[in-house]
Amino acid sequence: MEYVTLNNGVKMPVLGYGVFQVPDLSECERCVLDAIDVGYRSIDTAQSYMNEAAVGNAIAKCGVARGELFITTKMWISNYGYEKAKKAIDNSLSKLQTDYVDLFLLHQPFSDVYGAYRALEEAYKAGKIRAIGVSNFYPDRLADIASFSEIKPQVNQIETHVFQQQKFAREVLLRYGVQAEAWAPFAEGKNDFFTNSVLGEIGAKYGKTVGQAALRFLIQSGVVVIPKSVRKERMAENFDVFDFTLSEGDMREIEKLDKGDSLFFRHDTPEAVEMFVGLIKERGSCS
Ligand SMILES: NC(=O)c1ccc[n+]([C@@H]2O[C@H](COP(=O)([O-])OP(=O)(O)OC[C@H]3O[C@@H](n4cnc5c(N)ncnc54)[C@H](OP(=O)(O)O)[C@@H]3O)[C@@H](O)[C@H]2O)c1
Repeated sequence: MEYVTLNNGVKMPVLGYGVFQVPDLSECERCVLDAIDVGYRSIDTAQSYMNEAAVGNAIAKCGVARGELFITTKMWISNYGYEKAKKAIDNSLSKLQTDYVDLFLLHQPFSDVYGAYRALEEAYKAGKIRAIGVSNFYPDRLADIASFSEIKPQVNQIETHVFQQQKFAREVLLRYGVQAEAWAPFAEGKNDFFTNSVLGEIGAKYGKTVGQAALRFLIQSGVVVIPKSVRKERMAENFDVFDFTLSEGDMREIEKLDKGDSLFFRHDTPEAVEMFVGLIKERGSCS
């Protein structure tokens, strides 16, 4: 495994395993146990995925020392605000069956972000969280929180894949010393991702698949990746990206696939806020 060192000295694996859209708790527990068996040590969950308890069961059962694991969770918007966020942090720790999480992110840049962030800072100082950060913060929001918070975020988890390479956002993250982490590193298969001919031809030169070429591209670009699969053979394929290096020329070819915009939705529009208001009504507090 390769690691990045966050701005507070904490080491984070460059490759982890994400459990978005695995709502069935026994299935999620099986997936995390399979992922750990394959070799993953970093697991990415969130309050809104409604599967922290399954990740907690897997952590308890996996037989790997807690200190070797890197557990990330994210606070859902309905838990924002200082008082609610404090409770939500303890609730996540309890579901995850752990005294601390390695990385706690604010999931979205809406509602009382600053109150929630102060609760993260406090829990960080109390040793309940080893690193704090944000997710889906566009460059202006990121610069704002990095400038006006006491503890600068360590990570920003944003949509990043070959079709949305986030070149400007990553420049801003570098400027503020914040680590970029990719969600949907395969674009969830959108835009015929897994049959892309450029990735296919480049991957074949190294005896690798489309997905492996794409993950290697992001890792070599300095981005942490957390691909998701419920299938153990794909988990193993996605993990097997540390025995080759893409040439400069191949990196430049993959850079040309960038479309420079989201394949999902932007997080800086009134429609995005309205969609999240709807989701909050649908999902409740996620705690
Ligand atoms: N912060 C945020 O707002 C946010 C948003 C989205 C995601 N995330 C995080 O990022 C993680 C990854 O993103 P994601 O789950 O949205 O999408 P993703 O990792 O880009 O893609 C997952 C999809 O690719 C398929 N797949 C995986 N490996 C494959 C392979 N080797 N060959 C062919 N198909 C493959 C999976 O199918 P199978 O499962 O059937 O194999 C699944 O349909 C999430 O799990 C979550 O932890 C965060």
